[in-house]
Amino acid sequence: MRVEDVSVSFGGVRALTEVNFEAPEGGICGVIGPNGAGKTTLFDVISGLRRPSGGRVSLQGQDLTGLSAVKRARNGVRRTFQRTQVFGRLTVAENVLAALEWPRQNFLGDLAAWPSRRTLERERGGRVDEVLALCGLTPLRDAYAAALPVGQRRLVELARALAGRPRLLLLDEPTSGLDADQVARLREVVTGLETTVLLVEHDMGFVMGVCDRLVVLDLGKVIAQGPPERIRQDPVVRAAYLG
Ligand SMILES: Nc1ncnc2c1ncn2[C@@H]1O[C@H](COP(=O)(O)OP(=O)(O)O)[C@@H](O)[C@H]1O
Ligand SMILES: [Mg+2]
Repeated sequence: MRVEDVSVSFGGVRALTEVNFEAPEGGICGVIGPNGAGKTTLFDVISGLRRPSGGRVSLQGQDLTGLSAVKRARNGVRRTFQRTQVFGRLTVAENVLAALEWPRQNFLGDLAAWPSRRTLERERGGRVDEVLALCGLTPLRDAYAAALPVGQRRLVELARALAGRPRLLLLDEPTSGLDADQVARLREVVTGLETTVLLVEHDMGFVMGVCDRLVVLDLGKVIAQGPPERIRQDPVVRAAYLG
């Protein structure tokens, strides 16, 4: 995943200024920086929710810049949100099922595809079970998402994002609201993926433990990037963020 010269302004505020970095394929890349640094805005640009005033985003050589958020999601770009977004009136299992694609949803198409459609439904059910188990949500599969505490809602969002086997997974503050067991589960899930992961996170123990690479944002600019050990010792980063 590659971000080139991405800039975003909100009126007079430059949320991102010519941001450049590359997230290694199949690796976990952390994006850190103080509040207001532009981390969520960067995720919005990568996932297609916000059009940058300049710059490009590409994934495995494919330019995503002109694609809508929906098209990017279909192309394997999935994310979770700093403020969780789940379907409260659906159960946990239904939330995950709804995240899977249902192609050819018209009556004649359904009729023509009938036998294969049943196979497809079985496969989807199987995938839902798999992802729920991975995220430790099997006991909660029939609970309504609205009734869950924030930690569990975050895991539901993670399960939704994983269901379609994304090529790029963006996680915005995934440990926030999680208890120690849930953090351990999250860590296991994230480190076990073959997907490229981009992670915004304030929990430095978690970040240093899972990331192969870090990008540090401050006031919308990349002030450092590299392996976690180097970033930890970087004087500029310490001054701006780590203290
Ligand atoms: N929708 C918006 N309208 C105006 N300003 C915004 C909007 N979203 C973010 N900002 C501003 O852009 C900057 C970066 O915000 P954000 O990307 O949320 O930072 P972070 O996720 O690193 O805390 C901040 O100054 C914030 O106030
Ligand atoms: Mg944010």
